[in-house]
Amino acid sequence: MSKPEVLLDEMTREETLQYLNETVRPEEGVIPAYILADPTIYKLEHEKIFMKTWILLGHESELSQKNDYLTRDLAGYSVIITRSSDGELRAFYNMCTHRGMKLCRADKGNKANFTCPYHGFNFKNTGELIGVPLQNDIYGDKMDKSKMSLNKVTIATYKGLIFGTWNDNPQPLEDFLGDYKWYLDMVFGRTEMEVVGPPQKFIVHSNWKIGSDNFVSDSYHTMVTHGSIAALGMVPSATYSKRGYQVHTNNGHGCNIGMPNPDFAFPENLIDEYKANLSAAQFEMMSNLKNLIGTVFPNLSILVSHTKIKDQLISNTTMRLWKPVGPDKMEVMTWFLVEKGATEDWKERSREAYILTFSPSGIFEQDDTEVFTDITAAASGTMPYTKQLTYNYTMGMHREPVKDFPGPGVAYPDKFSEAGSRNFYRYWLDLMNS
Ligand SMILES: [Fe+2]
Repeated sequence: MSKPEVLLDEMTREETLQYLNETVRPEEGVIPAYILADPTIYKLEHEKIFMKTWILLGHESELSQKNDYLTRDLAGYSVIITRSSDGELRAFYNMCTHRGMKLCRADKGNKANFTCPYHGFNFKNTGELIGVPLQNDIYGDKMDKSKMSLNKVTIATYKGLIFGTWNDNPQPLEDFLGDYKWYLDMVFGRTEMEVVGPPQKFIVHSNWKIGSDNFVSDSYHTMVTHGSIAALGMVPSATYSKRGYQVHTNNGHGCNIGMPNPDFAFPENLIDEYKANLSAAQFEMMSNLKNLIGTVFPNLSILVSHTKIKDQLISNTTMRLWKPVGPDKMEVMTWFLVEKGATEDWKERSREAYILTFSPSGIFEQDDTEVFTDITAAASGTMPYTKQLTYNYTMGMHREPVKDFPGPGVAYPDKFSEAGSRNFYRYWLDLMNS
């Protein structure tokens, strides 16, 4: 690696990219520390990744009724997602087209139209401007309301997940997800899933990539970071997290599949439905699933986890967004999902399992965010850059993928590998160069 002569913020765009390409070497298992907390890298990520790819906005069950709406963040900009009376989902930039005021200031609600708090301009939840106070008197016939509709935001859904993008010419969502859909189907498409309650939000002083990276390929840390759960008897042994497979697919996506599992940890009253919605191979894998931990590039992580509640192993399904709010800070949003057709008792115990483990107060979540915070602090400032500090991502480079794995993508025979991270950073670098 060549010695940097100037700091990143003194480089031209071309020099920055050249330096990135010299120093970020996923195929060799070398990732430099500076990419976690440098403001220049953060700015470039915003432009090349967050403004270009599909980013999760929410789940369709959060807008189950006509006229429901949500406001969510898309790459630092507020958007309104609506379900209008025709049942269709739409999204708009949350800005009044008159003078730019944030049109809707609530997180969620139910209404057919939105009134701007500044001058009272009124918009239907389908985007059209329908009312202007004193219009005839103060504008005469000069105002053409049809030209002042809200600015549309491109959205698409897959198995209930709503994604948005600022890209005017995006790769179709299903192509972007590609082979990874096979795994998403087990998590979100096995039956109708519903989000319970509003997502929980909390701030962590961490770079967003550490969360994505942790879920895409770091099962190794479980033995140590979460060692207390083995000590408490919540899992059978400290190395329980090794058994299974690690898989990655195109576009930086990947997951860790913990199996086998002697117990079926999903609601048994829905088995026929699971069989109808999944292929035989998917159902077989799900029946044997202990956990599934993964990341949809760039910052959506998904999780099916199992916990013993009153001596019964019970699954809980969550998703979380590592939303960047600065190079060294993110807002984490966590959604708990449950099978809509499960019994009330099952739903309650599954929620309890989530609260105990991966909610903001959960035993795992607190372990992880402590680590994420310290890594970010150690990567901050100019020293990690000038001293060329790097991380080692070589785990599993000597191993060959499994040949007869039933799912798509590249699979390795157990979960202790960093292949998923190397794949994540390969795609990250490709987009930074795009
Ligand atoms: Fe963890």
